[in-house]
Amino acid sequence: MDIENIVILTGAGISAESGLATFRGPDGLWEGHRVEDVCTPQALARDADLVHRFYDERRAKLAEVSPNPAHAALAKLDANWPGGLLIITQNVDDLHERAGARRLIHMHGELKSALCAACGEAEAWDGALPPGSSCPACGAPQLRPDIVFFGEMPYRMDEIDAAVRRADLFVSIGTSGAVYPAAGFVQTARHHGARTLELNLEPSAGSYLFEDTRLGPASVLVPALVGELLA
Ligand code: APR
Repeated sequence: MDIENIVILTGAGISAESGLATFRGPDGLWEGHRVEDVCTPQALARDADLVHRFYDERRAKLAEVSPNPAHAALAKLDANWPGGLLIITQNVDDLHERAGARRLIHMHGELKSALCAACGEAEAWDGALPPGSSCPACGAPQLRPDIVFFGEMPYRMDEIDAAVRRADLFVSIGTSGAVYPAAGFVQTARHHGARTLELNLEPSAGSYLFEDTRLGPASVLVPALVGELLA
């Protein structure tokens, strides 16, 4: 099969070997936290300090970590693939772009961005974000982490949907397949004729939806796949 358009979906597993905790699993970020306590609009309204502290700690952690060979391999694919390519990440870290990836969508927001709940402007943000910080655009004291919480609509879904429908190859890397709509992209891609491949440390909730699954660490599997694609 000739491949022209590639869509890659990444999750927390691709950043695990850089030292960032995944969400689910034994060392997961949600251990000790209920998701509803930190990652919903209701939690932000109820306890803004907790929500901001959770994301401030994770933003600070970014300074201590670096992209790993899986991020580097995807950046190399992005730079060298002559056809259509889109990396859709559920991750709010900045490791894909620090590795050099350009054709990238952060569908769940970014740690290094703040969103004004009043005017909807997003601002680059590096550092702590105290609740009640003022928006540089409109002045309202309503800046919040620019993170898509449970119950909120992921970003740029029109572009994502169009790319997934056009894909000849859809690859999912390091995601548990537990959170929709991302977990459903594989079905759309298959329905429109794409080959589908999952790369993950272990079988995921969505493994059965993929034609092929390769199990192992992303730092090994992703460079190998990129080598095959660029050969
Ligand atoms: N290489 C490949 N896969 C790995 C590695 C690794 N080194 N380490 C862990 N994994 C796999 C795990 O086996 C798991 O299936 O990565 C997956 C991570 O799953 P989650 O922690 O559920 O992360 P993710 O799928 O990105 O979560 C989706 O949920 O909480 C929300 O918005 C948040 O974007 C996040 C979404």
